[in-house]
Amino acid sequence: MNIEKAFEKLYNKPPEVSGFAPGRVNLIGEHTDYNGGRVFPCAIDLGIFCAASRREDGVFRFFSKNFESAGIVEYPLSDLSLKNCWADYPIGVIRAFSAFGYPIPLGADFYFSGDLPDGAGLSSSAALEVAAGTALKELFSIPVTPQEIALIGQFAENRFIGVSCGIMDQFASAMGRSGHAVLLNADTLEYEYAPLGGAALVIVNSGVKHSLASSAYNERRRECEAAANAIGVRALCSLTPDEFESKKRLITDSVCQKRARHAVYENQRTLDGAEALRRSNLNEFGRLMNLSHASLRDDYEVSCAELDFLAEAAQKIKGVYGSRMTGGGFGGCTVNLMEQSAVEHFISEIKAAYKGQFGRTPEIYTVSAQNGADMRGNDDIQHN
Ligand code: GLA
Repeated sequence: MNIEKAFEKLYNKPPEVSGFAPGRVNLIGEHTDYNGGRVFPCAIDLGIFCAASRREDGVFRFFSKNFESAGIVEYPLSDLSLKNCWADYPIGVIRAFSAFGYPIPLGADFYFSGDLPDGAGLSSSAALEVAAGTALKELFSIPVTPQEIALIGQFAENRFIGVSCGIMDQFASAMGRSGHAVLLNADTLEYEYAPLGGAALVIVNSGVKHSLASSAYNERRRECEAAANAIGVRALCSLTPDEFESKKRLITDSVCQKRARHAVYENQRTLDGAEALRRSNLNEFGRLMNLSHASLRDDYEVSCAELDFLAEAAQKIKGVYGSRMTGGGFGGCTVNLMEQSAVEHFISEIKAAYKGQFGRTPEIYTVSAQNGADMRGNDDIQHN
């Protein structure tokens, strides 16, 4: 059933707006966004469908097919307190709109349904935030840009969900472009699109969900802040690798120094990777992806045995340019860039290897780079 019909069945009226917000996969530039560095994600064709309609009575109702057992969750506009459930994400977004100077005047009914695996590091939270934000913009004709929606989503997640995430995920979901990755400077929000050429993008899900992911994430942020303070810079990624090497002794804590080394070199790899893509040098781009994985494993320590195994096994398969863990880490997925002709062989090899090692078959998604969130009003829905 499509999202409009599902909405109508549940709420006994057609939605006024509906659409899709994508998840994302990051090709390179991991744990650099909150260090003022570059990231290089693309929006993907897995994401969250959303349909919504205004209500006159000042009540918000939320339903998610993915959290069906929670039923319809209700919040009056007069009391948008969090309830410690999935609907805190859209509620956080509504509260963030107010904080950005766009108070939402009425209530609304929402229906969400996603095909992103939960907790797999493909930004299901950001897609939910961006879906809610884009639907609110359309419903109430709020003059926000997609970039602002990304910032609103990030604010909601930082302030109300308690994860001190950077801007990458929301930005990719709001601003992606079909066939392209987005090279984003997370410090200035300047960005450019880079075509992915003919390479295939395959995501392998380790199936590992790390329950400590958000607390460890926040801890990494603190370690990087301590390192930046020790060196006397606002953000680690403002340093070149040479500058870092000449100043690193100021970071006396060895753990913080390793974290900083990752951030500084990963930022450089991201710049070099974008340059390699401009020259259509996919082998070089893949080599940088592999180095990124090693740094995340050894210096940043956000990988795990399953991700290490998947990346290392993938890197040996013919036709694969590069393979690395993607997203925050501690489980989730690897991203694999390869020749189109290698995909079928890759899938059977990696499935068999993982099954042999860990006794279970990983889920695999062959994805392509997509446009950012798109929501249409009812008239457009009828005509499309
Ligand atoms: C999570 C965060 C992003 C980014 C990545 C790591 O996905 O939400 O902001 O920091 O981890 O690169």
